[in-house]
Amino acid sequence: MLNIVLFGPPGAGKGTQSERLIEKYDLIHLSTGDIFRTHLKENTPLGILARTFMDVGKLVPDEVTIEMLKAEVVLHSNAKGFIFDGFPRTNAQAEALDELLQSLSTEISIMLSLEVEEEELKKRLLGRAEVSGRTDDADPVIIERRISIYNKDTAPVKAFYQAQNKLTAIQGTGTIDEITHRLFTAIDAL
Ligand code: AP5
Ligand code: MG
Repeated sequence: MLNIVLFGPPGAGKGTQSERLIEKYDLIHLSTGDIFRTHLKENTPLGILARTFMDVGKLVPDEVTIEMLKAEVVLHSNAKGFIFDGFPRTNAQAEALDELLQSLSTEISIMLSLEVEEEELKKRLLGRAEVSGRTDDADPVIIERRISIYNKDTAPVKAFYQAQNKLTAIQGTGTIDEITHRLFTAIDAL
């Protein structure tokens, strides 16, 4: 299996690039943010709970997120592989993912970390707010909070994969095509 953690701060391009990668490598795309937003729209109990965190730019608690992700992986246990987009976001999530994949006799192949500086992230997210309808894009204070939570709680996950020799940093600025090319090159070198 090819299992990719596509990592990076809010607005780094995880969703945009995932679309390209799933097509080329025939993978299942699991974006925890997208899955939560589907629940939000349908007003499920999980959506109602997640909204209280997402609308203000905070992380949904680990237990809830991990259970949801596990269920999605199990649903697609015949997949050729997965792209995990927006997961894991804490070391506890990374540990849970390792255990889950181990129980399925597989593992993470590579973590691709999109590196983009803060000013560019803010510009992208505010730009997207015009069309996304995402509450967490519309307010610069919430964007700041998402970035600062990324720096504090999520960026340390890179060290988790670095310790397993699985981290590859990818410059996340330039055209979308250029970045896709960098990602393909890193994956094809595996
Ligand atoms: P999530 O949906 O994961 O949002 P995020 O990480 O904040 O990232 P985004 O989806 O906003 O950005 P992206 O990296 O996908 O970039 P995109 O391709 O869209 O999470 C939302 C919330 O859900 C979290 O805050 C949390 O509350 C909760 N949540 C989710 N997962 C969780 C977890 N594991 N644990 C706990 N809570 C969780 O691109 C952004 C914009 O930039 C687009 O407009 C795009 O067109 C543009 N763009 C892309 N590439 C380029 C480029 N090269 N040049 C110029 N513009 C570009
Ligand atoms: Mg996204």
